[in-house]
Amino acid sequence: MKTYNIAVIAGDGIGPEVIFEGKKVLQGIAELDGSFRAEFTDFPWGCEYYLKTGRMMEEGGLEKLRAFDAIYLGAVGYPGVPDNVSLGGLLLEIRRGFDEYINLRPVKLLKGAPCPLKHVAQEDIDMIVVRENSEGEYANVGARLYPGTPQEMALQTGVFSRKGCERVIRYAYELAKKEKKTLTSVSKGNALGYSMVFWDEIFKEVGKEYPEVVTSSLMVDAASMFFVKDPGRFQVVVTSNLFGDILTDLGAAIAGGMGLAAGANLNPERKFPSMFEPIHGSAPDIAGKGLANPLAAIWSISQMLDFLGHEEWGKRVVEAIETLLVEKRTLTPDLGGRAKTSDISDGILEILRR
Ligand code: NAD
Ligand code: IPM
Ligand code: MN
Repeated sequence: MKTYNIAVIAGDGIGPEVIFEGKKVLQGIAELDGSFRAEFTDFPWGCEYYLKTGRMMEEGGLEKLRAFDAIYLGAVGYPGVPDNVSLGGLLLEIRRGFDEYINLRPVKLLKGAPCPLKHVAQEDIDMIVVRENSEGEYANVGARLYPGTPQEMALQTGVFSRKGCERVIRYAYELAKKEKKTLTSVSKGNALGYSMVFWDEIFKEVGKEYPEVVTSSLMVDAASMFFVKDPGRFQVVVTSNLFGDILTDLGAAIAGGMGLAAGANLNPERKFPSMFEPIHGSAPDIAGKGLANPLAAIWSISQMLDFLGHEEWGKRVVEAIETLLVEKRTLTPDLGGRAKTSDISDGILEILRR
């Protein structure tokens, strides 16, 4: 029988609460399927680990993760450790170290999920955001100069390489072609005359290889406005690291909330393991209270199943989430329910067993 070895980094705050539920769902699916097993190895890395050891992950941590089939991550960051230290030492280190240059973030309003946009039909919010995940505004290149003097300054440089832009843009074209969807590039060439003009040029260049894909190009400010006013115009969206980060929280807000937003950090060549996580953070305001919605973490299990070649199960997990939302019996308070975090995996598995 095939065994998938999954590295689990539950992390901080609500991370462990939601990851526990996702693991139970994957375990349950493996039992239902019968042709594969999931074996989890937990790593205790995160802010508590940092306060004890001075490191977010142990030395050689990446090497330890390398042999796994996938990484399942909860959330990183907690008051008491500066966010740039906690995220830079764990989540971003893994994304960059394993060249997980695609961040796939579905923005899909399921039936039964709350939406603050009263003028929009449920089926009109159904897009997939392909976020560049390895460079751009997050390249971590910069300097702090003349600290403590009146000339003090901070420099933060965006890095847009031809290879980096081409590969994410090509991935998005391939996806749009395969799924027969339109592709929208989101950039900001009117103000960022080097990086984003370069991005726009590459979007056009690569597009010549995909005459069948209908495209459009938007500035990020206008795109944000259309996410709210007319989300139905978006199908596949490709954008830079920072813009993708911001647009997908906006996407979460229109598609049921942070408790329903998942993301896959992919190394498409499979040279390194890919990482699956909810896109929300550690939510210190609700941590430890059983209030966290684990459906985003469960949706990321669906993305993991897709990537491992079990697309049928991936689809069924999203359908089970939708059934749970429609039936409304087992939902956490953010979705208007009274269930606890720990009730949700049983609700999902009960639906999958029907
Ligand atoms: P957050 O996503 O943790 O929380 C934003 C709001 O959404 C909060 O009100 C929270 O209660 C709510 N929320 C988030 N997830 C929820 C869920 N599953 N169910 C119900 N409600 C949920 O963002 P933040 O407050 O800006 O960040 C908190 C910490 O997490 C910071 O340290 C930040 O750097 C970190 N962070 C980590 C990740 C990650 O690990 N991927 C992502 C974002 C933020
Ligand atoms: C996300 C998060 C991270 C990001 C932070 C925590 C570094 O917000 O995954 O969306 O910006 O990529
Ligand atoms: Mn984010």
